[in-house]
Amino acid sequence: MEELKKGTIEALLHEERRFPPGEAFRAQAHWNDKGIYDKAGSDLESFWAEMSESIDWFTPWEKVLEGEAPSFQWFVGGKTNVCYNCVDRHLNTWRKNKAAIIWEGEKIHDRRVLTYQDLYRNVNRCAVALKRLGIEKGDRVTIYMGMIPELVIAMLACARIGAPHTVVFGGFSPDALRDRMNDCQAKMLITADGAWRRGNRVPLKENADEALKGCPSIKKVLVVNHAADARDVEMEGYRDVWWHREMDRSGNEVVEPEPLDSEHPLYILYTSGTTGKPKGLLHTTGGYLVGTHTTTKYVFDLKDNDTYWCAADIGWVTGHSYIVYGPLSNGATSVMYEGAPNQPHKGRFWQIIERNQINILYTAPTAIRAFMAWGKEFPEKFDLSSLRLLGTVGEPINPEAWIWYRKYIGYDETPIVDTWWQTETGMTLITPLPGITETKPGSATFPFPGIEADVVDEEGVSVPHGKGGYLVLKKPWPAMARTIWGDDQRWQKVYWDKFPGYYLTGDSARRDEDGYFWILGRVDDVLNVAGHRIGTMEVESALVSHPDVAEAAVIGISHEIKGQAIAAFAVLVSGKEGSKALIETLRKHVAEKIGAIARPDRLFLTHELPKTRSGKIMRRLLRDIAEGRILSDTSTLADSDVLEQIKEQYEEGEK
Ligand code: WTA
Repeated sequence: MEELKKGTIEALLHEERRFPPGEAFRAQAHWNDKGIYDKAGSDLESFWAEMSESIDWFTPWEKVLEGEAPSFQWFVGGKTNVCYNCVDRHLNTWRKNKAAIIWEGEKIHDRRVLTYQDLYRNVNRCAVALKRLGIEKGDRVTIYMGMIPELVIAMLACARIGAPHTVVFGGFSPDALRDRMNDCQAKMLITADGAWRRGNRVPLKENADEALKGCPSIKKVLVVNHAADARDVEMEGYRDVWWHREMDRSGNEVVEPEPLDSEHPLYILYTSGTTGKPKGLLHTTGGYLVGTHTTTKYVFDLKDNDTYWCAADIGWVTGHSYIVYGPLSNGATSVMYEGAPNQPHKGRFWQIIERNQINILYTAPTAIRAFMAWGKEFPEKFDLSSLRLLGTVGEPINPEAWIWYRKYIGYDETPIVDTWWQTETGMTLITPLPGITETKPGSATFPFPGIEADVVDEEGVSVPHGKGGYLVLKKPWPAMARTIWGDDQRWQKVYWDKFPGYYLTGDSARRDEDGYFWILGRVDDVLNVAGHRIGTMEVESALVSHPDVAEAAVIGISHEIKGQAIAAFAVLVSGKEGSKALIETLRKHVAEKIGAIARPDRLFLTHELPKTRSGKIMRRLLRDIAEGRILSDTSTLADSDVLEQIKEQYEEGEK
């Protein structure tokens, strides 16, 4: 923690600092002329038309953009295939034997390298297997795995045959997995017999078996043998088949990549919203590919001889767009790491960078803050001089973490790209361009060329610089989600109804006097815990599903490393006595219902929750109590005694 405090002081000293791109970097950058903003801004469609030329189309598109909010189509009439663009097309070039994926296992000597040719073979064998097992174009396939190359192979095989995948983060519980499979009526599940995390085996197959008790749509389960002795894994007769057996059976057969319409579904990815039910955001083929391809190339200034590492998990959108589709469509070498950053030691990331001479690193502020807390002696043990660009994503980065990142990881030289985007946006939308933008620590700077972002008030009117408001997007972009799977109405209601014609991000932001965007955080009941989106309602429903809980309220409180942490207030059913043991049981219950990422850091038992006269829980007051602030306006509170009681219990719990 010493380092963190020192960092804070340093940040204050540097508050006014600007970081222009270095001359050498600028000279070599793909984009180093500000004119690109005007070019894209003045003619959005021509700009994206030009960007689409980097993609191979089976049938050229006829129109760049069609439709109106909330339903846009991009590259209308075009046919392409995302897998073809990420794999096949590189085989006709010198990249055939270039490393596509460098995989580092959590066990320190586990390492695999797949060239583009290797990827081609494996993706084909997997696609052949999927077809043999009954998967057809349009069928949904759920993938529930750890960070192993088979995950990427499975995604690309789905894309190849036009079967939309839905990847469920390996840290999710059986319940969360079941809900997601049922929501999209998946026909197949691809999983593994385990994943390594901090030296332990995550029981993915056991979780899957539990989830599958209530998933009638799943007909087949394909299981990768990775973390267990195959003889110990229970395979359900007709339903479960081994990945390696099926891959062997496919032999050298190939499946031609399906020519798919630009708007054919590529994947569904679930993310938290303000209700208990996660939203399945639908991403499609042509626009998503053009958007992720373009941003990967220009935001990371990606070159052919770079070794690129995005340290996210593929269970989230960052991994989809910036480990798999963006980098591979660019023919890049994409590094993937299976495990935890402190396994087996706190210098693991830096060791991976040194070992692979990584040039570009993309990670999250929460990780950077953890590295700061661990101390600079860990990065100092390794040679990080290969790094030439750093990126961050997932939550606002505090200036002290930004400065620490640049100083100790980037040796005070590398540009940092702080990229703002969302599962819904598919691609980065507010970000520096490393050869152009003068950065300010903590600001995501400016919208990417062709993106029109604004900060507006309650009426949808732009606010002057310096003032905060709703962050909205006023023009469409190619990688935008098209809808919420099976719920067009919710898509319309959540994102487009508040300000007709504008996309509502759910974030608040402010522009400073120079026009730089500063993201302030969510304005809805969505928490950002260590870069993961968690809906307060999801955690509340998990709590009340426990027989001892009558009612619950969940809020976010600030946390030095995670950005936000979860605090829960629970009211027990009458007659039930509270105890420390029960608090632990309830925290564990939430982890079992959703996943460990949703386990409340703090849980308080109270007799009542503060409510308005109309019965709405006043979270704002709970937040004040939890953060130890003077209570904000309590005039709408129905029963003011409640607050005093909660405060007392809270303070009791703090002891
Ligand atoms: C937050 C992750 C500040 C934001 C790609 C957004 C950020 C949510 C940044 C999306 C950033 C993401 N600065 N906040 N650079 N990047 N966010 O869907 O609140 O998991 O709405 O997508 O993360 O999270 P999601």
